[in-house]
Amino acid sequence: MSAADPGSPETPAAPEGTRPSPNIWHHTETYEVENRAFDPDGLVEAAIASVLPGSSWAGLDVLDLGCGTGFHLPRFATTAGSVVGVEPHADLRAIAARRTRRLPHVRVVEGTAQSVPLPDASVDLVHSRWAYFFGPGSEPGLAEVARLLRPGGVHVVVDNDASRSTFGSWFARGFPEVATPAEKQAYWESAGYARVPVLTRWSFGSREDLEAVVSIELPGPVAGEVLADLPAGTLEVDYAVDVLWRRT
Ligand SMILES: C[S@@+](CC[C@H](N)C(=O)[O-])C[C@H]1O[C@@H](n2cnc3c(N)ncnc32)[C@H](O)[C@@H]1O
Repeated sequence: MSAADPGSPETPAAPEGTRPSPNIWHHTETYEVENRAFDPDGLVEAAIASVLPGSSWAGLDVLDLGCGTGFHLPRFATTAGSVVGVEPHADLRAIAARRTRRLPHVRVVEGTAQSVPLPDASVDLVHSRWAYFFGPGSEPGLAEVARLLRPGGVHVVVDNDASRSTFGSWFARGFPEVATPAEKQAYWESAGYARVPVLTRWSFGSREDLEAVVSIELPGPVAGEVLADLPAGTLEVDYAVDVLWRRT
């Protein structure tokens, strides 16, 4: 879910510091299919909750940084005190706002990881999922997160682990230029983040959906090879992620 293609066209209206996100920008409906297929057992959500005081975000002020179409906002909103989605892309922001229009304690605002229009020490949990604007070189964004978090607040980053699982091996084949798992881990360790490894899965309703999602996540030739090798009838793909987290 973090198939950044640095060669893709930028959206002219996107603010400075926005990283091209061709999967969700150009294939928004397929990305929704992907979000629905990912982690059907809620293992990632459980890992996030496990690093929070009281193992829950109930009552907390939550910021979803790089919220895209706001897929995760309603879930946080079930128990959070308030939820803010920050997203640089105007069209995605509009979808996120529409998705949450009946939730009075949810807001969607323009911003980037490097510049969030919220006051200092106003948030308890910052969630960043498939946020390739975080990782090696993202110090300005991490400093902004530190500014936003109250004492005891937690930043959680959900990222691919390309060192293991079927999807991880596909990702490593598709994006050899991206930082290696060892480089990423060293970066997060030096920034003071701990790691919870999670082995979850994609679970699709149809082969058509699986093929569409693989095709937006991997470069064409690699997607073609992967799909050609995948036995007919396969609807499940094991998928390793890292939940990286730091308490202020
Ligand atoms: C792969 S999508 C993930 C969206 C969402 N987190 C989800 O899980 O459905 C990455 C998102 O980050 C946004 N983005 C890109 N650069 C950003 C930045 N510098 N700060 C915040 N968000 C950014 C993109 O517009 C895109 O919506």
